[in-house]
Amino acid sequence: MTAMVKFRGNAACAVPSNQVKYPMSIRKIFKYPAPVLRQPTATITSFDDGLAKLVQDMADTMYEAPGIGLAAPQIGESLKLIVVDTTKDKEEEQSFLPMVNPEIIAHEGSQIDEEGCLSVLDLTASVKRHKKVTVAYQDLQGQPHELTAENRFAVVLQHEIDHINGILFIDHLSPLKRALYKKKVKKWANSEEPTEP
Ligand code: NI
Repeated sequence: MTAMVKFRGNAACAVPSNQVKYPMSIRKIFKYPAPVLRQPTATITSFDDGLAKLVQDMADTMYEAPGIGLAAPQIGESLKLIVVDTTKDKEEEQSFLPMVNPEIIAHEGSQIDEEGCLSVLDLTASVKRHKKVTVAYQDLQGQPHELTAENRFAVVLQHEIDHINGILFIDHLSPLKRALYKKKVKKWANSEEPTEP
């Protein structure tokens, strides 16, 4: 895997200050049924500082949540951009992979795994996905890459790529389960209960 970027973590002292390019920035995560989660996303064509800053914001926001993947629409940016956590074990420093304009170009098999989403409050559910996927994407310099993943990492990639296509994991549930969840969200909206952290 290339283009790995080290997460600088919450402890600023752990990283030499000359490596901290941008101030820590935690962005608001939009929650279902926010319309931005359903909007079409634009292909990224500028591989500039703005993109690098946005990726850092996404990583900061993802680890703060905490989550293992985040797509740009979840922080209100309608762009084809995701970040996925690539940390192998808890002892190691957190690292993530930014994937620009990611697209599944091959897949095989199937698996069922439990999913949740930072944009879908208070719900986890089993979702059927491909067992193995190959994703074409670009790095922050615009260089093209391909990555093949399986099992849990393949689930994360499919879940995040769904986001940039306006699809949420609840769309993969049975109509009944989805209806029950929608009803629950409506109830929250009608009550004064705070549903946003
Ligand atoms: Ni999600």
